[in-house]
Amino acid sequence: MSKTVDGFSKFNKLEKVNWLVSTFFKNDPKVKEVLLQYWNTNKVLQDLHDDFIENTISNYYLPYGIAPNFVINGKEYAIPMTIEESSVVAAASLVAKFWSTRGGFKANVISTTKIGQVHFMYQGDKMDLKNYFDSKKAALYKATSAITKNMRKRGGGILDIELRNKTTELDTYYQLHVTFDTADSMGANFINTCLEAIANEFKKEDIQIVMCILSNYVPECLVRAEVSCSVDDLYAENSEVLAQKFVQAIQIANAEPHRAVTHNKGIMNGVDAVVIATGNDFRAIEAGAHAYASRSGSYKSLTNATIENGIFKFWIEIPLALGTVGGLTSLHPLSKLSLRLLGNPSAKELMQLIAVAGLAQNFAALRALTTTGIQKGHMKMHLTNIIKQLGASEEDKTFLINYFESKTVTHNAVVEAYNKLVQDK
Ligand code: MEV
Repeated sequence: MSKTVDGFSKFNKLEKVNWLVSTFFKNDPKVKEVLLQYWNTNKVLQDLHDDFIENTISNYYLPYGIAPNFVINGKEYAIPMTIEESSVVAAASLVAKFWSTRGGFKANVISTTKIGQVHFMYQGDKMDLKNYFDSKKAALYKATSAITKNMRKRGGGILDIELRNKTTELDTYYQLHVTFDTADSMGANFINTCLEAIANEFKKEDIQIVMCILSNYVPECLVRAEVSCSVDDLYAENSEVLAQKFVQAIQIANAEPHRAVTHNKGIMNGVDAVVIATGNDFRAIEAGAHAYASRSGSYKSLTNATIENGIFKFWIEIPLALGTVGGLTSLHPLSKLSLRLLGNPSAKELMQLIAVAGLAQNFAALRALTTTGIQKGHMKMHLTNIIKQLGASEEDKTFLINYFESKTVTHNAVVEAYNKLVQDK
């Protein structure tokens, strides 16, 4: 039987499920049951989610957790996080509490501009092109004035349009490099719409427009977050040596891309969790962050730390193109709730909170890695997942959690302890 289909998007949701189950699962009723059990009984809510994408057949849940006790620029926050990795929210909560008694986090937005480009090919004389661009520049702004009207009212708009000659990188390649401020919106649609209007106004016979698209590389949409305290205040004992190790861990990430990727992955555990919880685009954030980490030509840490005059300072600088209005932020009930929980922040404030979430996560990881090792905390959190896989009762779960309080958690050790528990009954 063929596994391809015509007109799938026209099927209703149940027809889509039935086709899938019969074509790929030999009509296994359990598969249909799994898919349908995630349908929300509230039809209005379900319809909303169905319409986010094409061909929705069910919902895919991720845990929505809260990391309380963050103090950022003197203000208290409980930060919402959407993530499946068991230790992330726990780590964020611990670190938030830790720094709340050491002055909290300080954060500031360095810049907020975003980039979009009209990429085109031109074989003629480059001075002719420059003259044409100069003569057209005012018209390019004018072509977008209806689109930018509301954005300008909110303090954003097009900041600059430049002609860039890229022919040394690629024969006959030029671009219009456009700089935007999109105020509190992420602005992807706004930027792309402006670019298409600009291209339409700019095109002529000898200019071949190839494409118009925003860039997710946003090194000028940058935020910094920082913590600091006296070295003595950092660890209960052996503080100087451990603080040194912490700094060395970052130096190692800066010297060794294999480590830097994992180091930054840990940062993105915190960043993405809040980005998703607030309805922002985590793929854009990931792409931009990793490109920024490579800006020197080799891939490095997004965080840094120093010890000077007995003071430990730890900070992150990360590009974050975020929105707090428009897109999913105003559609998804949980995104709206997240933003409300955060006091309906501006995009700039959200940049600060998310940079802090990344810094906190990296602090937790490096502190664990350079002291007890990561597995102790990770496996403690993973313990409940293993217990669940074993199908243990609530009573057995409580026993096993207590039992492993003072023991090393490994998958085998938990299985053995559980089997013994069941046998001894
Ligand atoms: C795991 O998700 C993240 C860590 O590997 C980060 C790190 O190694 O810094 C613990």
